[in-house]
This record gives sequence, structure tokens and C-alpha cells, in this order.
Amino acid sequence: MSEIKLENLEKSFDDFVAVEKSDLTIQDNEFFVLLGPSGCGKTTTLRMIAGLELPTSGKILLDNEDVTFLRASQRDIAFVFQLFALYPHMNVKKNLAFPLKMQGFKKSEINKRIEEVSELLRIQHLLNSKVSSLSGGDRQRVALGRAIVRRPKAFLMDEPLGTLDAEFRELMCLELRKLHNDIKATTVYVTHDQLEAMSMGDRIAVMNKGKIIQFGTPKDIYLKPKTKFVGSFIGSPAMNFIPIHHSIEKNQNKIVINGENYDVPQSFGGTNSSINYLGIRPEKMFLTDKKGIPGVVFGSEYLGARKILTIKSEFGDFKVRVSNQVNAQIGSNVKINFEPKSAIVFDGTTDKAIESRYIKLN
Ligand SMILES: Nc1ncnc2c1ncn2[C@@H]1O[C@H](COP(=O)(O)OP(=O)(O)OP(=O)(O)O)[C@@H](O)[C@H]1O
Ligand SMILES: [Mg+2]
Repeated sequence: MSEIKLENLEKSFDDFVAVEKSDLTIQDNEFFVLLGPSGCGKTTTLRMIAGLELPTSGKILLDNEDVTFLRASQRDIAFVFQLFALYPHMNVKKNLAFPLKMQGFKKSEINKRIEEVSELLRIQHLLNSKVSSLSGGDRQRVALGRAIVRRPKAFLMDEPLGTLDAEFRELMCLELRKLHNDIKATTVYVTHDQLEAMSMGDRIAVMNKGKIIQFGTPKDIYLKPKTKFVGSFIGSPAMNFIPIHHSIEKNQNKIVINGENYDVPQSFGGTNSSINYLGIRPEKMFLTDKKGIPGVVFGSEYLGARKILTIKSEFGDFKVRVSNQVNAQIGSNVKINFEPKSAIVFDGTTDKAIESRYIKLN
């Protein structure tokens, strides 16, 4: 078992709060992703879990044992920085043996573990090759091997695929996920790439400005963003937002946009902030001949069976995902409507989704 628990964890650098009181439980065997824009506190959080940074306050529990003040070397956690950080002058076998030798393992145990790990990663044939002669993919696997050969309680990975090109990155994502399914060790994976997070994570924590804003499964976070920030950060293309410039009256089943009434399934409730936003995913918007928001097609991106239209309107640019059968020439005038059930209202003052407006998922 290896569960990681953060309790009220906080880190300040002088007056600057890099990580604000965070509570989080990362379950045993889970592939957990910390996601957020640059500077939001991901690395700082990971370094505290690793024991490389002392928290200003709060606790870190590893399998219910308080490890807050234990050194990194006493925590039995493997921190994988960049997956390429190997010793280039040594062969693969020596690279794999190195962490075990440092820990004083016997030769027979070292050999046994190297055999196991190289079979798991399909690198048996490379054991005598020099690291500098390996392809990128093989190097990546050896680096992973070096991390797992120690059999740590958990893995921490800080943007391990950061420097790779897109195609190779995608491949390594699949490899990493497959490896996790095989060895099932608790993993905390940091990235600022929401697609990577969505495709890899069992659960994701979305951070912004030092705070964990929301955590849940990729589906939960996509369908029920708790704040406008999460709605806009997750999803590709991002969520569309329509500013609603009038206050929302309680118990009304209509909102008015551009002089047209839109039916909504239930009361908006919430506050009377001067600007609220309706958030709508691109696949929940469509073109219509009937009433709708007028706009001009500005861009069209072909994606096989679908295309993404960029439409300029008085409310800003919208991304609308339609079938490629839809005829919408660049420069043409169109009208856009959306499925009201899938729209989420965000309070313009607090940025928060108005909970009562979470629409039932099908
Ligand atoms: N040792 C330090 N001293 C002062 N400020 C720091 C220190 N380490 C981090 N910070 C600040 O704390 C904030 C969070 O940094 P952190 O590295 O955790 O962000 P991140 O989410 O990992 O960003 P990135 O995606 O760019 O790696 C940043 O504003 C950073 O400048
Ligand atoms: Mg970082």
C-alpha cells in the first residue's frame, strides 16, 4: 500500500505563497496528475512530497506515517526528473544497477531485479549497450527502469516528457500509462499540458495560483468544471464563454442574449453579479437557421469527420465543433445556438460555477 496524503500543506517563499493550504489524498496505485499553468505551484508541491522542500505548515503522510520532516532519502519515493537523465558513459546494466548499489543491495539481488525490470520494459537485448548509443525511446525506457528497479513506494514525475517532440511524447505517454497498469505503483505526475493530463490521469488536480481548484476524474472535470478557470483550461478547443450583461433573476426559465429568449431547464439561481458567464463546450454549440447569435465564420479547421469553426460574434470568438458536412464558408454569416442543458453559469465575481445549475449528465 502507498497512499500519499497532504494535509493543509502550505509553502511560502518569504512573503510569497507558492502553495496555499492544500488537502489532497492520492490513493494507492493511482496515477494522479497535478495540472496547471506555469508558476501555479506544481513543482513546489511535488518537491515537498519528495522531501526536497520543507513545507511552511501542514503535513505529508505516506501510508499514514507522518513523513513531513523526513529527508528525501528516508521516504522511499522515486523522483523522476527528466527521463533522459542517465549516465551516458555507462552501459544499460550499470545504469540500472547504480541505484541498487547505492542502497547496498547484494549482487544476486541486483541481478534478479535487473532481469525483472528489463523484461518488463523489453530492454533485455540492450543491457550491454552504452546509453549514448541508444535511440530516444530506448533511453526513456532505461531511465524508467532505473526508477522502478528500486521498487519505491511511489513515483513522482515532474514534466518527464517536457523536452520531447509531439509524436514521441504521445508514444511515451502510452508507454508510461502501460507501465503503470503493469506495476501499479502510486504515481504523481506533473504537467501543464491538459491533453496529457486528460489522457493519462486516473484523477487530476487542477491548480491555479498556488491553489488546488478542483480534483476528480478527467470526465468529471471536463463535464463539471467548478470554476471558469477550470472550464477554460481543460478541453481543446477550450470552452466558449458568453458574457451575460444583465443580472440573472431567480426562478426564471429564460435568459436573454442579444434580444432573443433562450429557454433554460431550471432557474439560474446564484448571485446578481453584474457580469456572469455562460460556459459552453464547442461540441454543444451548433449552427441554426432559426434564432441564434449572429456571427461571421472566421476560420475552419478540418479534423476528418468533424471541423472546428471559429466564429466572430459581438460576444467574442466562439469555437464550434460541427460535422464536416456542415457548409460554412469563411466570411459567411451564420447564426449560432447551443444546448441550454449543457451550459454552465459562472459567477463573474467569484469565478465559480453556480452549483444549482449543474445540469444532469445524460
Ligand atoms: N526557491 C524559490 N524561491 C522563491 N520563489 C520560488 C522558489 N521556487 C518556486 N518559487 C515560486 O513559486 C511559484 C510556484 O513555482 P513552481 O515551480 O512550483 O511552479 P510550477 O507550477 O512548477 O511552474 P512550471 O510549470 O513553470 O514548472 C512560482 O511563482 C515560483 O517563482
Ligand atoms: Mg514546474
